[in-house]
Amino acid sequence: MKIVEFDNNFLDLSFDWLQKDAELKWLTVTNDFSKESQANWFNSLPLKTDYKIFGIKINDEPAGAFGIKNIQNGTGEYWGYIAIRAYLGKGYGKILMQNAFDQAQKLGLNSLYLYVKNLENKRAINLYLSVGFDYIETGSDYVKMQKKIPPHITKEAEQRNVFEAKIFFAQSARATFSNIVSSVFKNSDKKILMPAYIGETDKEGSGVFDPIRENRLKFEFYKIEKDLSGNIDDIIQKITSGKFGAILIIHYFGFIQNNMEEIVKLCEYYDVALIEDCAHSFLTVQNEKKIGQFGDFSFYSIHKIIPSLDGGFFKINKTRYYCSEVVEPNKKISLDSLDLYVRSDYETIKQKRVENYSYYIENWKSNDLISPLYPTLPKGIVPLNFPIIVKNRMREKCYFKLIDRNILTCSLYYRMIKEIDKDIFPLSYEIADNILNLPVHQDTNKDAIEYILKNLFEIIEELIND
Ligand SMILES: Cc1ncc(COP(=O)(O)O)c(C=O)c1O
Repeated sequence: MKIVEFDNNFLDLSFDWLQKDAELKWLTVTNDFSKESQANWFNSLPLKTDYKIFGIKINDEPAGAFGIKNIQNGTGEYWGYIAIRAYLGKGYGKILMQNAFDQAQKLGLNSLYLYVKNLENKRAINLYLSVGFDYIETGSDYVKMQKKIPPHITKEAEQRNVFEAKIFFAQSARATFSNIVSSVFKNSDKKILMPAYIGETDKEGSGVFDPIRENRLKFEFYKIEKDLSGNIDDIIQKITSGKFGAILIIHYFGFIQNNMEEIVKLCEYYDVALIEDCAHSFLTVQNEKKIGQFGDFSFYSIHKIIPSLDGGFFKINKTRYYCSEVVEPNKKISLDSLDLYVRSDYETIKQKRVENYSYYIENWKSNDLISPLYPTLPKGIVPLNFPIIVKNRMREKCYFKLIDRNILTCSLYYRMIKEIDKDIFPLSYEIADNILNLPVHQDTNKDAIEYILKNLFEIIEELIND
């Protein structure tokens, strides 16, 4: 006997076994069910942590199924049957029970219970008594039986799923985002709601929007505020329409956006998956918890914080929605990046980024034409860079003049994706036209920042006088 995955083949077979075989249906006291209700039940299985189901093969032939349901507080309810007549009365029942005990041990259960709801099924009752079940309840038309499961003491730890963090590594944040949305929208034609501040470049495409294009998802945007947080009225109005299956919140530049508790409540009430884009800094913490604690899912970029060639990861925080944990072989993180990720000294990296950001703020000379996007650095935020707003159409010139002085900066995002309509989201375009992101990364220091600020203010003076 082999215990195997209960797959689609077993699903079809079990329909025939339990609905078309009158004797088995009677013995197992199975109610009528349809193919559709069976499919719904099957699709809900990956989300369930209190239900395990297995297929049984004898001589390589599918022969039955068993499971443990209502798993909680160290116990669970066993059910099972061998459907192929030729295998009855040959001792397979006992082997099946031993397999069920092994599975119960692996799940850390200390007892199993079961119901026999057809008291004429003497074969089953005798089997259960012979493998150590005792009666614990008898009714007029049923019995409940229980067996203690001895602890399974192994030489080394074997239980993977119990202590495994639901974190999965991939080549990039966009690969992980694609993985999440392809699962969430697998059987749904609802839309994804996204912030109206997403850019792209010819060289790098769009880290946020390429996964939407790749999965051919329907989408809509919500308005953003001057600090890039989502306009909460617009978010509420859109989510309450019932058209959306998921919302994306981007924590731009490592700053936590919006009142996330409020967004969580909204998403729970309207059955919308909450996805947090933490690509800009996996080091930020809020209330001692790592960024990305609110969403059903969150995803991160490694190569934006440490100098690895690639790398990203995603986290499954809640099990309301199914999400595949399998990263395709061609989208796996490189060993080299994983190695650097493990070896990096994050306490020092955090400290340097925070110190550098604070140094910009302390040395900032108030000026009507340029201003920091976030003039204070809240506790726990580990910034990607120091975003500033450069007004009067000077940003472009400023960017190139800084390059002339050996200062490389970027503009996230200088070009909006074309799907964001300028007439509907003028503020998004205004920010995109004016934003400039100065470096705060761990290779910079106070001297470098003094040099940047001195040159930046000189350039602005020059541009004003031009
Ligand atoms: C907000 C945001 N999310 C996700 C990504 C994608 O990150 P990665 O380059 O790791 O795919 C980017 C960058 O492109 C980004 O700016």
